[in-house]
Amino acid sequence: MVSPTPPWLLAFDDERRLAEALARELGWPLHAIERHRFPDGETKLTLPSALPERVVVLRGLHQPNAKLAELLLAAPAARELGASELTLVAPYLAYMRQDIAFHPGEAVSQRHLGALLAQTFDAVVTIDPHLHRVHSLGEVLPGRRGVAVSAAPLLGAWVARHVARPLLVGPDDESAQWVEQAARDAGLDWALARKQRHGDRDVSVALPDVNYAGRAAVLIDDVASTGRTLAVAAMQLLERGAASVDVAVTHALFVGDALAQLGAAGVRHVWSTDSVPHETNVVSVAPLLAAALRS
Ligand code: R5P
Repeated sequence: MVSPTPPWLLAFDDERRLAEALARELGWPLHAIERHRFPDGETKLTLPSALPERVVVLRGLHQPNAKLAELLLAAPAARELGASELTLVAPYLAYMRQDIAFHPGEAVSQRHLGALLAQTFDAVVTIDPHLHRVHSLGEVLPGRRGVAVSAAPLLGAWVARHVARPLLVGPDDESAQWVEQAARDAGLDWALARKQRHGDRDVSVALPDVNYAGRAAVLIDDVASTGRTLAVAAMQLLERGAASVDVAVTHALFVGDALAQLGAAGVRHVWSTDSVPHETNVVSVAPLLAAALRS
């Protein structure tokens, strides 16, 4: 019996490390999508000249705008070159936080990006998408298969191995789903704070009434961007007597001086998964993504 051709994994050079780990996990061939940037800012993509029926494109959508333009070129090109079943693996799926119009006239980015990806790909696999008022990835990708897996149990297991008697703390309502999963699987204590956002870099956090004295607090969140949410929560935890504050997040965006802000706030360790390449990566999501793709 002839075994079916395995899907090909296509990836860009800046995500080669995760791509190689994923291809190894799956035993699938890995091929590059080459990029040439013209002086005027346009991009030329070169894919393998003949593709099998099933193709998976790995593209994390941190710093998303240029990457989205590349995907809009890469996906139809892959179909012209032979792919009939095209899956996007976006370990970090951008634009999920704008899930309603918070003010009149605002574009609901989650809905519009979801519709665009649904037109472009047959399926999308991602990790811990920021779903809050919209509850499933299927709702974001009308008519397409959306698979969302969570790295929270991996973060919980990492924390359980590295911190004695930790207290996991979610900095806001949205983080409940992640902190709860991380705590449940590793059998850890957890608590949930409340956050109010006043601006891009201006948040206030109210901690729940828990005895923090002498506890090793670990802030858990899906994504850290400016780091302000975590920094403000960390300062309050230390003011309330926590012995230490560490941070564990799935998606390490950490823009600008975010890491320095966390250091200044008294954070001890910052840990993340490699869903977004970053110096704080300690947990690989390759096995998680491989399991999702196999199923
Ligand atoms: C929003 O609720 C997210 O879960 C994060 O808490 C938020 O995006 C973090 O943003 P920043 O690091 O800029 O405070």
